[in-house]
Amino acid sequence: MTDPTWCRRLLGLAALAALSACGEARPVEYAAPICPSWKQQMAQVFSANCAGCHSGASPAGGYDVTSYLNAIAGDAPQKLTTVLDPATATAPHRGFADLAAQMSTWAGTCKVAYVSTSVHPGGIMNPVDPQFHGAQIAAAGWSMDACTKCHGADFGGGNAKVACTSCHKDPGGPTACTTCHGQPPASGAHLAHVAGATLGKPLGCAECHKVPSSWTDVGHIVNADGQVQAAPVITFGATAQLSVPGTARSGPPSFDAATGSCQNVYCHGGDVFGDSHAAAPRPNWRHPTGTEADCGGCHGRPPSTHAANATDCNQCHQQTVDASGKLDRAKHFNGTVDLGDGSGTCTACHGNAGRPLSAPHQSHLAAPHHLRGPLPCTDCHVVPTNVNDPGHIDTGAPVVFPNVPAFTGLARADSATPTWDAANLRCSGTYCHGGGSHLVFDTAPGQNRQPTWTVGGPAQVYCGSCHGAPPSDFTHLGTFQLSDCHTCHSTTVDAFGNVLAGGAHINGSVDVVQ
Ligand code: HEC
Ligand code: HEC
Ligand code: HEC
Ligand code: HEC
Ligand code: HEC
Ligand code: HEC
Ligand code: HEC
Ligand code: HEC
Ligand code: HEC
Ligand code: HEC
Ligand code: HEC
Repeated sequence: MTDPTWCRRLLGLAALAALSACGEARPVEYAAPICPSWKQQMAQVFSANCAGCHSGASPAGGYDVTSYLNAIAGDAPQKLTTVLDPATATAPHRGFADLAAQMSTWAGTCKVAYVSTSVHPGGIMNPVDPQFHGAQIAAAGWSMDACTKCHGADFGGGNAKVACTSCHKDPGGPTACTTCHGQPPASGAHLAHVAGATLGKPLGCAECHKVPSSWTDVGHIVNADGQVQAAPVITFGATAQLSVPGTARSGPPSFDAATGSCQNVYCHGGDVFGDSHAAAPRPNWRHPTGTEADCGGCHGRPPSTHAANATDCNQCHQQTVDASGKLDRAKHFNGTVDLGDGSGTCTACHGNAGRPLSAPHQSHLAAPHHLRGPLPCTDCHVVPTNVNDPGHIDTGAPVVFPNVPAFTGLARADSATPTWDAANLRCSGTYCHGGGSHLVFDTAPGQNRQPTWTVGGPAQVYCGSCHGAPPSDFTHLGTFQLSDCHTCHSTTVDAFGNVLAGGAHINGSVDVVQ
């Protein structure tokens, strides 16, 4: 590039300004006092004197000198100013008194110079030096045009005879996507998101950024106005914009560069679906090891939209969380709320092959005892039309014989007032088991009008368990046998005392046919 600003910038950084024309390599100039440099002297010094101990799989003192970057890593420069000083040197270093002054100068006043030329400052290869070539490029608005003048348009060496591509080996050389920042950078919470360490859900860069196809794309480093961007641009992708049906998001996803926190990002849940139980609905990008991605960070356990005791997620989200509480990462924050077996029907969570209703249900629903036909759900429950209807899953426990006007089930026929003792799994006062106003007075012995839900079979249910056989009243003689009932209750029982299939038994009214 021919921009003179560029030359000035570069030359300003170089120690010497004797170049006649930017873009031409000059012979190396050795001014006095000259700094020893890695390239000219020190690489050789280290290799000849030190590499014997300071190389290989376990270099002495953990210090390797086989490359410039290794030799100057960490606090090595500071140590190198004294390590060979005969007055203080440790045993392995005592024989190097003749090198002590040069080593100390190089590491000290010469700041571990890499080259000693009029073209570049010594710190050109030291990543922590302000004169580092990468830092110079950044300071110059990320233009490499000036470099190509000497190092070749293809970065292959040019007049400088030093190829950028000797170090920057990825296709594209220094313009490769990997040169200026990692893919992803190690900054902030990048690794947690892109590697998906915590939740195993790797996200592409496009979920949070507009990804350039070339490093020179407008909007990547340089804006349309030619200015270098002041800060990285966060452009949220499709996932962050999602919503949960039935919940109102308060705004589009956004990133607050001042605080580093995200807002209204679907993945972090709570903020989007208004869950006041979420511990960290606005996660901070700059807390890469924070608690933002802990269970409960994005939504409560359970969310505030749920009954407080809906803590067993598996009950209703069986595909996402298995019975042992383990998360299935394929189903989790996949953009839809996964309910039950995913069938979208009323049997998604209960009454399917994998999750049959509890066994006592079968006694009532399949009617194996032939006391009457099968009972519908509505005889004991209010049946919701939609999964979110009041009284369904917002109660945290099954609602049996609800005391609401909507409930007109058989259990309440004939003014019965049934109750469900959830602690003991026992019913009392149900119409069917003798709680109707016509039956309550019946004191014939041997009755069991408070059956326990979980105890099946004839131990609880027999002729005489719900009403006497016969009942204890004027109408009935104590001597009546079951075969006599037919005489007056012919639509209910046959002549042998068997309940008639499809007959009038337990239908809500006392049926007498004389
Ligand atoms: C005979 C083997 C040997 C040779 C040769 C040797 N060193 Fe060492 N060096 C060691 C050992 C062992 C240690 C660690 C213990 C110590 O400091 O004495 C060490 C430690 C160091 C350390 C400190 C590393 C640290 O991070 O603590 C520096 C710097 C160092 N050497 C520089 C040099 C230089 C420069 C040379 C060549 C002029 C050199 N050494 C030659 C064996 C050697
Ligand atoms: C005026 C010509 C010229 C320009 C412009 C120039 N360089 Fe150099 N560069 C050289 C020469 C010559 C060397 C070799 C110096 C030596 O070995 O003594 C060199 C060496 C380097 C080295 C050290 C690599 C090595 O192994 O020696 C790096 C890194 C480097 N240049 C980067 C850059 C960057 C980045 C730019 C643009 C900001 C740039 N150079 C611009 C001429 C130039
Ligand atoms: C001797 C090896 C070497 C040569 C030659 C070299 N580089 Fe580099 N370059 C590096 C290293 C090492 C880094 C730092 C990588 C890191 O920080 O992980 C780097 C970083 C960079 C960066 C990234 C700056 C940043 O802050 O993100 C750019 C751009 C770059 N070099 C351009 C060039 C150009 C242009 C040339 C040739 C003119 C060149 N490099 C020659 C070794 C070299
Ligand atoms: C989950 C969202 C997210 C994803 C995915 C993501 N980034 Fe970022 N990135 C950010 C945020 C937020 C910042 C701003 C950091 C700040 O201001 O502290 C940022 C900043 C950056 C920066 C500026 C320098 C820095 O380190 O902060 C670069 C470069 C970058 N991202 C590259 C990438 C690349 C490349 C990928 C894909 C491999 C990627 N990002 C994936 C959210 C993301
Ligand atoms: C010359 C250095 C350089 C090269 C090469 C480079 N980037 Fe960047 N990239 C940057 C800098 C600097 C930023 C931060 C910009 C800011 O702070 O505004 C950045 C930011 C990003 C971001 C974050 C979004 C943004 O625009 O701020 C993404 C994503 C990204 N780069 C991807 C890529 C991809 C993909 C490539 C290869 C096609 C690439 N980069 C090559 C320097 C580079
Ligand atoms: C009793 C059934 C039930 C239980 C138990 C249950 N959920 Fe839900 N959950 C639902 C239903 C139904 C929806 C969908 C609500 C809608 O579509 O409006 C839902 C939706 C969600 C949503 C989406 C956001 C929202 O508030 O609608 C999240 C997140 C969620 N559940 C997490 C959990 C977690 C975590 C647990 C366990 C701690 C859990 N749920 C236990 C029934 C349940
Ligand atoms: C990074 C944020 C985040 C974290 C951390 C998180 N979740 Fe979620 N979770 C979501 C989002 C967003 C949804 C919304 C529904 C969807 O997209 O699947 C969700 C939905 C759910 C659901 C509802 C069923 C479903 O798949 O839709 C359950 C259950 C659930 N999460 C359990 C957990 C459990 C258990 C943990 C801890 C191991 C956890 N979540 C941690 C974001 C998170
Ligand atoms: C004879 C009364 C009765 C009928 C009829 C009945 N249930 Fe129930 N149901 C109960 C009782 C009692 C419980 C409480 C069980 C417990 O707490 O263990 C219950 C519990 C439930 C539960 C909680 C999970 C379980 O299996 O215990 C569901 C779901 C349920 N019923 C659905 C239904 C559906 C759907 C129907 C119709 C297909 C139905 N019930 C018919 C009495 C009945
Ligand atoms: C997301 C899972 C899920 C879906 C889908 C679902 N249920 Fe339920 N249902 C439950 C749970 C869990 C219970 C019992 C525990 C409770 O009340 O929290 C229950 C209880 C019931 C009961 C017993 C009475 C009650 O309300 O407690 C009936 C009846 C019932 N469901 C019918 C239905 C019908 C009809 C549908 C379709 C409209 C349906 N269910 C869809 C999870 C679900
Ligand atoms: C002689 C006719 C007659 C015979 C035989 C008879 N019942 Fe009844 N039963 C009635 C009449 C009449 C009523 C209605 C009484 C009322 O409304 O107070 C009745 C009512 C009932 C009731 C309702 C509760 C009550 O006491 O009102 C039951 C239960 C019942 N009978 C069971 C039986 C059984 C079991 C047998 C056989 C062991 C039987 N009955 C034999 C005439 C008879
Ligand atoms: C689960 C409780 C229960 C059991 C067990 C039971 N009954 Fe009943 N029975 C009732 C109820 C409740 C009525 C009240 C009237 C009605 O709704 O049919 C009734 C009424 C009758 C009647 C009066 C006619 C009628 O339909 O109203 C006869 C007869 C009768 N039962 C015979 C029997 C015989 C025979 C057996 C044994 C095979 C038996 N019952 C077992 C609950 C029971």
